[in-house]
Amino acid sequence: MGSSSRPFLHKKIFIFWSVLILSSGSWCVAARISSLISKDLFDAIFIHKDDNACPAKDFYPYNSFIKASRCFPRFGNTGSLTTRRREIAAFLAQISHETTGGWPTAPDGPYAWGLCFKEEVSPQSDYCDSTNNEWPCYPGKSYKGRGPIQLSWNYNYGPAGKALGFDGLRNLEMVSNNSLIAFRTALWYWMTEQQPKPSCHNVMVGGYVPTAADLAVNRTAGFGLVTNIINGGLECGIPNDGRVNDRIGYFQRYAKLFNVDTGPNLDCQYQKPF
Ligand SMILES: *[C@@H]1O[C@H](CO)[C@@H](O)[C@H](O)[C@H]1NC(C)=O
Ligand SMILES: *[C@@H]1O[C@H](CO)[C@@H](O)[C@H](O)[C@H]1NC(C)=O
Repeated sequence: MGSSSRPFLHKKIFIFWSVLILSSGSWCVAARISSLISKDLFDAIFIHKDDNACPAKDFYPYNSFIKASRCFPRFGNTGSLTTRRREIAAFLAQISHETTGGWPTAPDGPYAWGLCFKEEVSPQSDYCDSTNNEWPCYPGKSYKGRGPIQLSWNYNYGPAGKALGFDGLRNLEMVSNNSLIAFRTALWYWMTEQQPKPSCHNVMVGGYVPTAADLAVNRTAGFGLVTNIINGGLECGIPNDGRVNDRIGYFQRYAKLFNVDTGPNLDCQYQKPF
């Protein structure tokens, strides 16, 4: 009994880890979200991402998204089925706005053009915060928007690279030439709390508890708060902002495709930025 079962157990554990390492290519766990977002649904969401008109043509395949998600096992895997679907829809909506190729009269509507770009086209600056000593800019590098979340600024590239195993300050081109790393930077940003902001993930799965100070400036949980985390300094607290409305439009379309409601507080027009 006891002693004869042990070698068997060891063998099972060994096989389990071998399969895990070989199949993921790194120390990440097996995919769980593919049961919530099939390739068909992904393709229905991103109808035009591989059009010739899109500079990111063929850069964002379904498999890279699923593979990248393995390193973030709580993504799309926390709470009820509705919560999990809504979180994925919210994430895909935000990255769609960040990379949109849509316009008001675009084929299939303005919200069918997510993941059309992989890097910012006419950056206004190199997004180097030279006062940041922890993540100093490397000479000649531009910390402009790259990848699904359009990662920008040295203080985001540095920690993202550190978390994901590449030199984010020197080898930042990895974010626009490697689709797996590109999706990982977006998920890293989504999952990681950067004080004083909560993480986007926590907001979408009900883990965010607003303080009295947050409540006083309407920072209650919902998609609008996620927009506030991502770009509230430029977009929130402004009535009827076009960029905020574009994010909402994407989310409403995707929520429908995932067959979930959008939840409360879609907008951040009455929220104070962080
Ligand atoms: C991608 O970017 C990295 C970092 O700059 C670079 O070392 C690598 O050669 C690039 N790969 C391709 C295929 O361009
Ligand atoms: C909070 O929202 C209300 C409307 O719902 C608005 O009147 C108020 O000005 C908002 N507060 C802040 C700080 O934006």
